[in-house]
Amino acid sequence: MEILRHAVVLVHLTGFAILFGAWVVEAVGRKRITRLMTWGMVIAAVAGLALAAPWGIEYSLNYTKLGTKLVVLLAIGAVLGIGTARQRKSGAAPAALFWLVGILTFLNAALAVLWR
Ligand code: HEM
Repeated sequence: MEILRHAVVLVHLTGFAILFGAWVVEAVGRKRITRLMTWGMVIAAVAGLALAAPWGIEYSLNYTKLGTKLVVLLAIGAVLGIGTARQRKSGAAPAALFWLVGILTFLNAALAVLWR
């Protein structure tokens, strides 16, 4: 069970890497919202929700922290959805939405690592 949980953590981190990596590439480039960001978010979300249940561990989970991460994840989803639609319509994602994707993703990683 513990090994399986670690494997799910690995998948969760891969989703984070895809989302944040795709965003960094765009932040130093064209500043577009891409499908890879959405895919990374979906992977991190599915694995994160699986990890939010207490299996394969002997300590208790911090549900306040997990609830906060879930709210931030929903905000990332909304920003990606609205940003993608606006980009399709006008050719460019609004700058505020583009930067919010990176800031909120970084915030969730910081919450995961710093809030114990
Ligand atoms: C884009 C959104 C997210 C990002 C960037 C993210 C990032 C991370 C990172 C970097 C870690 C590793 C921290 C560490 O092990 O010290 C982690 C662990 C974790 N995340 Fe997320 N996360 C996200 C969304 C979520 C969501 C929505 C949930 C569940 C509600 C969640 C639940 C967890 C749990 C339970 C762990 C601990 C795994 C363990 O050690 O057993 N995450 N997350």
